[in-house]
Amino acid sequence: MKPFSDRRTTLLAQMHTQGGGVAILSTSPEMTRNADSCFPFRHDSYFYYLSGFTEPEAVMVLVAGKTNQSILFCREKNLEREIWDGFRYGPEAARYHFEFDATFPINQLEQELTNLISDQPILFHTQGHNSQLDTQLQRCIHTLRGRARSGVSTPNKTIDLHAILSEMRLIKDPGEIALMQRAASISALAHQRAMKITRPGMHEYELEAELLHEFRRQGAPSPAYNSIVAAGANACVLHYNANNAKISDGDLVLIDAGCEFGSYASDVTRTFPANGKFSTSQRVLYELVLAAQAAALEHAKIGARYQDGHDAAVRVLTQGMLDTGLLNKDKVGFPEDAIANSAYRQFYMHGTGHWIGLDVHDVGFYRDVSAVVSADTKEKPYRKLQAGMALTIEPGIYVRPAEGVPEQFWHIGIRIEDDILITENGPLNLSRETPKTVAEIEAIMK
Ligand code: GLY
Ligand code: MN
Ligand code: MN
Repeated sequence: MKPFSDRRTTLLAQMHTQGGGVAILSTSPEMTRNADSCFPFRHDSYFYYLSGFTEPEAVMVLVAGKTNQSILFCREKNLEREIWDGFRYGPEAARYHFEFDATFPINQLEQELTNLISDQPILFHTQGHNSQLDTQLQRCIHTLRGRARSGVSTPNKTIDLHAILSEMRLIKDPGEIALMQRAASISALAHQRAMKITRPGMHEYELEAELLHEFRRQGAPSPAYNSIVAAGANACVLHYNANNAKISDGDLVLIDAGCEFGSYASDVTRTFPANGKFSTSQRVLYELVLAAQAAALEHAKIGARYQDGHDAAVRVLTQGMLDTGLLNKDKVGFPEDAIANSAYRQFYMHGTGHWIGLDVHDVGFYRDVSAVVSADTKEKPYRKLQAGMALTIEPGIYVRPAEGVPEQFWHIGIRIEDDILITENGPLNLSRETPKTVAEIEAIMK
């Protein structure tokens, strides 16, 4: 529990530098799937980051005052409910196990919260994130205002708690890195399993089942996002997840799938030939995407700006599009022109990555928000990479049939995605155990 209580201490110190006050955050609400069935519960990542507590119906309050206080509100013990749904800590055991200063039953939240925010200068809140909590808090403030004549005051300033926590979450500590490594390694095993078993004639969902099988048998509770298993033309649909088509001989199969382990995400994409051997056209584009990824990786280092990797990948891809005739040299001109006028976006229309951590698209600003913007710069520059940041690098190429596009490339969709940790010694590829070169892929599929 130490990393969680350490993070609360760090946050409390930051709250003091801003004048002190009360921070409030809740876990996610349970969501109905249909009738009386719920979606599998997944705790809120911010809430988990500070508590380690994974039960639904929980709220945390941190007080940065004369003495600091960490308080948890959670469900009470309930033998009847525990017979049906399983164990719950209850306030007493939760206080001990999760190292809070005080715990209360969740049904006492409004009553206690009213007292806790009384006379506090600043409310550190995640407004707009959880409507139930917003409403409860409004009622508390309303109640407090009613006591104004007795001399109590309500907080007169609100600070966005997520903005502070997002910056904390952006830099991963050794425990988080170990979990992310395990998540990526399990995903690597799942991709290997899918590659080994793929044969033309199978359906996409059969490969999805293999991925899930490997995730679960390795102890990962679920995928970190909906798995994409896209054969042939389906690979050109960026968020395809019907996963129900038959895989044909000659198809490429694009699998974008990663498990969540210990609440941390992995996000891995590989593209491989269903019959085990790349055709010439497939191979040409595959090597191009691979080269683009290698170019982006060179910028995954301390001090480089977040967007440098994307820009490097775009340069390689654009040159390749001109060399292969995907883009027409006579029409587009030089690579710089194809980049400037976004011609490359016909075949590469997404970014080259995102932060990854507790959420697959993890939190944290991408730009240097403290930068001063002048009339000619307008946009804030992208931020510089630091040790402990983790991001995906995922260039791709997607060829939809169109006039002037060489037919040999039609319907080819390729993405190659790895999870990268920025370290003092350069990039560490967490998903490195997933076969990636043409030789590695063709060997494992034999
Ligand atoms: N799998 C989601 C993504 O690659 O961003
Ligand atoms: Mn991704
Ligand atoms: Mn992905």
